[in-house]
Amino acid sequence: MTRQRIFSGIQPSGNLHIGNYLGAIQQFVGLQETTDAIFCIVDLHAITVPQDPEELRKKTLEVAMIYLACGIDPKKSIMFVQSHNHDHAELAWILNTLTPLGELERMTQFKEKRQSAEKRRGVLSGLLNYPTLMAADILLYQTDVVPVGEDQKQHVELTRSIAERFNNRFGDTFMLPKEMLNKSAERIMGLDDPSKKMSKSAKSANNYIALLDSPDEILRKIKTAMTDSGSEIRFDKKAKSAVSNLLAVYHAFSKESIKNLENRYAGKGYAEFKKDLGEIIIAKLEPIQNRFRELEKNSDEVMKIIREGAERSGAISQKTLSEVKQKIGLIA
Ligand code: TYM
Repeated sequence: MTRQRIFSGIQPSGNLHIGNYLGAIQQFVGLQETTDAIFCIVDLHAITVPQDPEELRKKTLEVAMIYLACGIDPKKSIMFVQSHNHDHAELAWILNTLTPLGELERMTQFKEKRQSAEKRRGVLSGLLNYPTLMAADILLYQTDVVPVGEDQKQHVELTRSIAERFNNRFGDTFMLPKEMLNKSAERIMGLDDPSKKMSKSAKSANNYIALLDSPDEILRKIKTAMTDSGSEIRFDKKAKSAVSNLLAVYHAFSKESIKNLENRYAGKGYAEFKKDLGEIIIAKLEPIQNRFRELEKNSDEVMKIIREGAERSGAISQKTLSEVKQKIGLIA
């Protein structure tokens, strides 16, 4: 049996946090053992909202180092920067010409980002076309499975319908991809507001625990994380959304069942629970942070890995793009 193809990406914008890790990166590391895995740093997606050029360059390399520090192994997977493989932008353009405006306007992420962009400098058309670029990312590699957090599910569904429409009109060309969620951490909520997902672009850094936060910062952020009324530590997303989120994080990092955790902390207050949780997160992030610091001293090596990744990815994406161009009537 041929191995399944996995593709996923992360934007080099803001600080990568434990939501990105538990929802996405942790799955990547496991999947590379049994699949043909491709991981991208999607800089062209990041620029759909204004970015500082120097900061964008820095963050792009930082995400590459975080991938490696978390355990992505370039011998087992391909990792590369989206803008280094021009096929992504080219297929995205073609897909834009085949995707009805209404389907893009209906995307939840667009509607949310549109609101915050309107308050600042206005909405850029790249933000609307974000999902067609994401569809290009996925479809170029004939991807079977896309490991992502719950917030990206709708984009993968749209990718599937873009692929289906293309296949119906021009003949079988694209695999139809499926999303894969980490059920126990598909949507980690903000520490300062458990009604919204933890987000790199949150206004306050107290919203998230960044993968590179120091132990002191982690303890402080967990200590000041919102809790619910009553002191009971119980998983109940409706009545106790803040504590349920902390329990989900605890479970995802420790693998201890939520039931066990509830029993262990029965009759104990938030302070003890939070202190233990902080320590577990610190212990899990410490080896990642140590590897990250080593890689920082070796950025030439990291550049070499992503350059090679771009070449290897291009060898695969070229085949799909040529077929698409031939089928829609472009002269070779
Ligand atoms: P991005 O950069 O916003 O997030 C990277 C990954 O982290 C997941 N994630 C979360 N999971 C659980 N809880 C959270 N609070 C949380 N916040 C983020 C995201 O779902 C994502 O898996 N559009 C994508 C990037 C992308 C992509 C692709 C993904 C571009 N092309 C092709 C897959 C395939 C994004 O914005 O991710």
